[in-house]
Amino acid sequence: MRLLVARPIAAALLAVSCVAVSPVGAQRKAVPSAPSSAGIAMTPPMGWNSWNFFGHNVTDKDVRDSADQIVSSGMKDAGYTYVNIDDTWEGERDASGVLHSNARFPDMKVLADYVHSKGLKIGIYSSPGPKTCAKFEGSFGHEEQDAQLYASWGIDFLKYDLCGFRQAVMNVQAPNDPAEQMRLMQAAYIKMGKALRATGRPIVYSFCEYGWDAVWEWAPAAGANLWRTGGDIGPTWQSIALIGFRQAGLEQYAGPGHWNDPDMLEVGNGKLTLAENRTHFSLWAMLAAPLLAGNDLPNMKPEIRDILTNRDVIAVDQDSLGRQGSRAYSEGQVEVWTRPLAGGAMAVAVFNELDKGRYSSHPFHLSLSKLGLHGTQEGKDLWTGKNVQLTEGQAIELDGHDVLMVRIARPIVKASQR
Ligand code: GLA
Repeated sequence: MRLLVARPIAAALLAVSCVAVSPVGAQRKAVPSAPSSAGIAMTPPMGWNSWNFFGHNVTDKDVRDSADQIVSSGMKDAGYTYVNIDDTWEGERDASGVLHSNARFPDMKVLADYVHSKGLKIGIYSSPGPKTCAKFEGSFGHEEQDAQLYASWGIDFLKYDLCGFRQAVMNVQAPNDPAEQMRLMQAAYIKMGKALRATGRPIVYSFCEYGWDAVWEWAPAAGANLWRTGGDIGPTWQSIALIGFRQAGLEQYAGPGHWNDPDMLEVGNGKLTLAENRTHFSLWAMLAAPLLAGNDLPNMKPEIRDILTNRDVIAVDQDSLGRQGSRAYSEGQVEVWTRPLAGGAMAVAVFNELDKGRYSSHPFHLSLSKLGLHGTQEGKDLWTGKNVQLTEGQAIELDGHDVLMVRIARPIVKASQR
């Protein structure tokens, strides 16, 4: 990224479009609440999850190796805490209904102890349905029993994935009644929330129902610490940009203890370029999203580790104010987002959605006044680590799919906004 000193382009030449379409309704729904999960996940959970890289093949060894790497790579020191096993760990239930892990996970308690011995926490996955998405055993009819089992193993995080509940319960009990289907879904999430709280163990509760029924409106009252806002992410620019920029409008629902979850990170996966990896990580930080790495940690390249452990970007994600960023404006395929931070600071991110090189001859001109800022701003470029000045109409040259992310410690705001 380069900041260019150039005269502002005449406003008339700019195709300005504010495309912040809110996907949400204005009112929170009244839902029967689950007991409070106060004190858990006061900043967005950070850690790693097995699904995005290992998928169906994850083993006990992969989880141990990943835990080891979180420590040795410096990720633990940077804040990554949860080591989460996704789907496909489940085995069969015995005659008493007790669920056992399958042969790839010989002893969950021993594995949990190992992860804990590293100073990390461990997460697990289930479904309110009889079957998970990968057709393994779900928790339907065994919610309390499973919650107690997780607690006895020392589990610290549960991702609860709707999947089999749709076919087995919603479609069967209320085939032509979408409202009743949503009520059944909410009740299922509340039920497991109560079961988790009843264990007395502080278990982070993660809803995965792909954003159905405006989940952000009712999930906090139902006991969620985080909730997926949409479908599955993939390791491509298209997937990351589509999901990430679509979060605009959800910012009012996030806060300490309850977060929008655009899905786990793909940083380091697929064929993402370094710029795309940076943009992905920056956008998730602007969104106050959970930072659950999903890459092959034992084989992580140094440049990927550097992205995942960028302390300045992580500090934005983990900011104690807990306010999710929002799209300030967009222009062509450039998006400008801001996030208010503790102590009156502010993060600004400029994302270039265009393909490679398109802005090298046509720099983008940043409007500070559209961000509510007045005059020259002193900041820190969070990817170069250098101090930068942002001026009104500043020309910014970004490679395709790259980002400029700046922290302004003391923003100078317009008089009307002071
Ligand atoms: C769903 C979820 C994914 C993953 C898989 C596992 O697709 O959205 O994140 O948990 O199930 O089967």
